Amino acid sequence: MLTINKKKPIQLGWRLYQQVEEAAWATKAGHDYNLRLATAQDLPLLTDLLMGVSADTRYLRFLSPVPAFNPARAETMARQLWLENAWLTQVLLATVREDSREKIIGLGEWHINPRDCTQADFALLVRDEWQGQGIGTVLLKRLVELAGRDGVTSLHSEIHPTNRVMRKVLSKLNMPVSYQFESGTLEVEVKLA
Ligand SMILES: CC(C)(COP(=O)(O)OP(=O)(O)OC[C@H]1O[C@@H](n2cnc3c(N)ncnc32)[C@H](O)[C@@H]1OP(=O)(O)O)[C@@H](O)C(=O)NCCC(=O)NCCS
Repeated sequence: MLTINKKKPIQLGWRLYQQVEEAAWATKAGHDYNLRLATAQDLPLLTDLLMGVSADTRYLRFLSPVPAFNPARAETMARQLWLENAWLTQVLLATVREDSREKIIGLGEWHINPRDCTQADFALLVRDEWQGQGIGTVLLKRLVELAGRDGVTSLHSEIHPTNRVMRKVLSKLNMPVSYQFESGTLEVEVKLA
């Protein structure tokens, strides 16, 4: 495993960079976590993440009252969303070690539009007990950097109109972000420099 200290970013070719993306970070409270890209081997961890989030968090992420995930539904959703998505998908994971096992505490995803590879959809998900510790902000900033290196110039998402935390995270990008109210949700567009 290659660990890249966030203070000393290593510039590698994009393909290689994609494979080894790995970095050590700390939450606001000083708890260490890692950022890395997901692989197909992460299915059990992704399934565990979906089963571990609250009803409120599921509602904000999926914009509907999704029932609690059982293992089978969580695995199906993890495959559909992240591992077998029809759109080219990258998933950035924030992970910690608990009892010597890796656990996902946050996730940023982007899906490249097959009709226009300069456009991508994105979303964030942080476990309830880890929210408010700066992880969503780090994930989004890193997601923007990586998507930009992949040629994406415009990132899109839909958020709940009451999702003030997500709007705050977006505001911390210091990039042009536009919002449009559409059918009960806020459509977000981030223009990458
Ligand atoms: C939205 C989400 C990804 C943000 O991740 P996070 O790790 O909690 O965000 P951060 O800790 O980086 O917080 C960003 C800012 O919001 C503030 N904030 C975080 N949680 C807050 C809360 N519950 N109430 C008020 N402010 C809050 C933080 O203080 C921070 O501002 P600051 O740096 O000025 O203090 C996370 O809350 C989440 O997964 N929510 C459910 C799913 C969702 O809404 N996804 C987005 C739609 S795709």
